[in-house]
Amino acid sequence: MAKVAVLGYGTVGSGIVEVIKTNQESINKRAGIEVDVKYILDLRDFPGDPYEELVVHDVDVIMNDPEVDIVCEAMGGTGAAYAFTKTALSKGKSVCTSNKALVAEYGTELLELAKANNCNYLFEASCGGGIPIIRPLRTSLSPEKVVAIKGILNGTTNYILTKMEQEGADFDAVLKDAQALGYAEANPEADIEGHDACRKIAILSSLGFGKTVYYKDVYTEGITRISIDDFAYMKQLKATIKLLGMSKEVDGKYFAMVAPFVLTRENPLYNVEDVMNAILVTGNTLGDTMYYGAGAGKLPTASAVVSDVIDCAMHAGIHLACNWEPEKLPLSSLDDAERKFFVRVAGEDAEKIKAAFGEVKMLEPVKDGELAFVTPVMTEKVYREKASDFQVISMIRVEG
Ligand code: HSE
Repeated sequence: MAKVAVLGYGTVGSGIVEVIKTNQESINKRAGIEVDVKYILDLRDFPGDPYEELVVHDVDVIMNDPEVDIVCEAMGGTGAAYAFTKTALSKGKSVCTSNKALVAEYGTELLELAKANNCNYLFEASCGGGIPIIRPLRTSLSPEKVVAIKGILNGTTNYILTKMEQEGADFDAVLKDAQALGYAEANPEADIEGHDACRKIAILSSLGFGKTVYYKDVYTEGITRISIDDFAYMKQLKATIKLLGMSKEVDGKYFAMVAPFVLTRENPLYNVEDVMNAILVTGNTLGDTMYYGAGAGKLPTASAVVSDVIDCAMHAGIHLACNWEPEKLPLSSLDDAERKFFVRVAGEDAEKIKAAFGEVKMLEPVKDGELAFVTPVMTEKVYREKASDFQVISMIRVEG
């Protein structure tokens, strides 16, 4: 029997217990062994909860119980969750988590600790919620050299951008609506400033490229400066605006960033709307593969954690190889990244724009006193030099 302890009985923790209990029979069958929740760790009591008798308040009860093979860390944060994860792995107990903050900050160290103790640190739920993406990167795509990962990795910002486009509502109004619906946190900074997507693309890139991509090294912009006027121009371009986390290899140089991008209708990520997430992974021989689904939510996230529990139960005493080496992946400066740029500038001097940027595609202005255009392909550095002669109202990078 595989005995499981769940750390934290909040949204994800209670979801993990619910998924195991709901699908107990098929989970046991797939794991090839009975999977049983033995403990739930929480500071609180849960009178009346069907599993209240499993609740303990002392983590040592779990850590000192040799019967517990698998620990689900659903506490969040990088404090106690980090300490408890290290203790569990040091004792040879595998840990499964949805905690992207912990994986992005300490993933390299925790994977090494799992390897040294012949157990596993698995984090399917840390990126894309219920979407299978970590396991495909670890296993299904293992014959491939991954050359690009591009994803809509944050449901809150995708919801906001979708509503801005569809309803013509401004950013602040849609954010309030998203908060009322429970999509956006009371403090939405991590989502709208791109920090959440940044941690996710760092994790995916570390697995895809095989070396550590540290989230603090990833250039990150959020969506707070995107306006409904920007969306008005998208109609002319038959395009939309999405917050993308992306990383790619170009001629041996690696780039990683999070920023809003202009996506045309041909882009497979164009139709990913509302709170949905999607990740497009390109392999050198396979080409494009795409993974789509619920990027958050209690049961989708819990289901992804339980998929890791089953993996651990199936591989007791075996460390599953993970293509994430401690060595840092050298990231190239954004200055060298090449692309087109959608730009709005104050003034009405189209000739000056053409003289500076070359073969631009001019758009029909949606407001008096400004001009909008799409540049030819150029590096970020060259774009910045040229743009410095203009009063730029907005600039959004064009993908593809
Ligand atoms: N705040 C995150 C989102 C939750 O909006 O996607 C899932 O990581």
